[in-house]
Amino acid sequence: MVLVCPHCKKKHTIDEKKIPAHIKRAKCKFCGNSFLLAAAMPRPSGPRKIGVCLSKGGVGKTTTSVNLAAGLALAGYKVLLVDTDTQGQDSFVLGVKPKGGLAELINGDLSYDETIVGARKNLWLLAGSKSIAGLKRMIDRKDFGGELTLTEILAPVENRYDYVIVDTSPGWDPITVNVLFYITEVLTPVSMEVMSLQGLVEFLKALASIQKYRKELSLKYIVPTFQDKKARKTMGIMEKLELMYGPILCRPIRYNEMISEAPAHGQTIYEYAPGCTGAQDYRELVKRVADNSSLFT
Ligand SMILES: Nc1ncnc2c1ncn2[C@@H]1O[C@H](COP(=O)(O)OP(=O)(O)O)[C@@H](O)[C@H]1O
Ligand SMILES: [Mg+2]
Repeated sequence: MVLVCPHCKKKHTIDEKKIPAHIKRAKCKFCGNSFLLAAAMPRPSGPRKIGVCLSKGGVGKTTTSVNLAAGLALAGYKVLLVDTDTQGQDSFVLGVKPKGGLAELINGDLSYDETIVGARKNLWLLAGSKSIAGLKRMIDRKDFGGELTLTEILAPVENRYDYVIVDTSPGWDPITVNVLFYITEVLTPVSMEVMSLQGLVEFLKALASIQKYRKELSLKYIVPTFQDKKARKTMGIMEKLELMYGPILCRPIRYNEMISEAPAHGQTIYEYAPGCTGAQDYRELVKRVADNSSLFT
C-alpha cells in the first residue's frame, strides 16, 4: 500500500499487514509531519461526493453539512463544502464572508480562487447566496445538459479534495436535480416528527426518478436529528426508521441547545462546545461516514 503524506505529498510504500491495529498515526520520514493513517490511505479515484438532502426545511441539513464537513476536516481529510441554498447559511455558520460563491463561479463573474475560500484547516467553502435564484433560471433556459451544470463546474477542482459535501435547499428545483446528478451518496437528516417521516417518503420517490438515470446514486445514510429521548413520539419514529432503513440508519443527533447557539458565533459545534452531546453525536457521524471508528481517539 502507498501512503501519501498529507503535508509534503511524498509517497511511502508500506506493508499494511505490518501496521499494528492500535497504531493510528504515522510520521513522515521526509518532512517529519505526524499524520493520521486514515487521512493518508489511498482513495480509489476522486473525492467521495455526499449530498445532504431532504425536501423539507428545518431538519438539520445545514447544521449536518457544516459539522460533517468540519469534522472530516478535523480528522485530516481535505473537504470542500458546497452550499447550493439561496439562504447561503453555511458561510454564516462558519463565520466567513467570501466575495461570492457558486452562482458567481458558474456565471463566470469570479474565479475558482475567488470563490472557493479556506474556512478552516483542510476545509474549503463554495458559498451559496441569493444569486442562486438567477442560476435556476439560467439552468432552466438551457436547451440540454442543464442538469450537469454543477458537475461541469466542479470537475476541474474536485480532485483536490477527499470529500465534497453538498448542502441543499428545501423543495425540489433545478439545483436539487443538479446536486443529484453530481453526488453519488445521499445523506438524509430526518427530524424526529411525523411530518418529516412523510417528507422522507416523498423525497425518496423523487430520488428514485433520478436514480433511473444514475445507477451510481444511492441513499447511504439516514440521520435522525432533534432526537429527544423524553418525547414518546421520538421513540415511535426511531422504531419505524429502524424497521424500514436499519442498515443505513445512523446514530441520532440529539436535540442540543449548543447546536443552535454555535452559528451566531460563527463556530462549528467542535469549536463552540467540544464536550457537548451535539459535538459527540456529530463526531460519531463523522466516524460512520469515514468508516473509521478510531478517529478522534
Ligand atoms: N440537534 C439540534 N438541536 C438543536 N437545534 C438544532 C439541531 N439541529 C439543528 N438545529 C437548529 O435548528 C435550526 C434548523 O436547522 P438547519 O440545519 O438550518 O436546517 P435545514 O438546513 O434543514 O433547514 C437551526 O437554527 C439550527 O441551529
Ligand atoms: Mg439549510
